[in-house]
Amino acid sequence: MTERSPARHLMPQAVFVVTGAAGEVRAGMTACWVVRVSHRPPLYAVAIHHGSQTRDVVAQGNCFCIHILRADQVDLARRFGAVSGRDTDKFAGLAWRSGAGGAPILQDALAFLDCQVASVSEVGDHSLFIGRLVDEGVLHESSALIFRPSDFADIGQSGEED
Ligand SMILES: Cc1cc2nc3c(=O)[nH]c(=O)nc-3n(C[C@H](O)[C@H](O)[C@H](O)COP(=O)(O)O)c2cc1C
Repeated sequence: MTERSPARHLMPQAVFVVTGAAGEVRAGMTACWVVRVSHRPPLYAVAIHHGSQTRDVVAQGNCFCIHILRADQVDLARRFGAVSGRDTDKFAGLAWRSGAGGAPILQDALAFLDCQVASVSEVGDHSLFIGRLVDEGVLHESSALIFRPSDFADIGQSGEED
């Protein structure tokens, strides 16, 4: 019998960049754990691990912006997922503008969903932010980036291997 991945690693997923801002501090990270959870009002959930800078900045700034990436933007997903913004400026050289609550909107992304934090709860080693959609936009024409484990095999996800 061949060795298989655990079932949890076979769930089809997309991959996003989630940004936030608190005052002059900007943060952003790659995230797979992003999902719509309500039609009316339109609510989106993002699970962010406790060690990340983005978690602290979203909690302080009360806003986040979900970016749907273009199919050719795996390098951008790697940039935002490989290291913490505490150690590097992930926004260097990228065009962005501030959204309604201040979260950076990356102008190269396929589309964005700008949200105001409606609630936050602690779930295991992650904070689950629920955000109400306040603005959205399609910035380019492309298909969306889908998560392929092999694109990120060398950098892992969610802060640690599971
Ligand atoms: C493909 C991929 C998916 C990820 N998904 C998540 C996620 O859903 N939630 C999370 O907390 N971290 C996730 N991460 C890990 C963060 O992106 C990573 O820890 C990042 O460096 C945090 O940066 P920060 O400290 O600047 O916020 C993912 C990483 C990758 C490469």
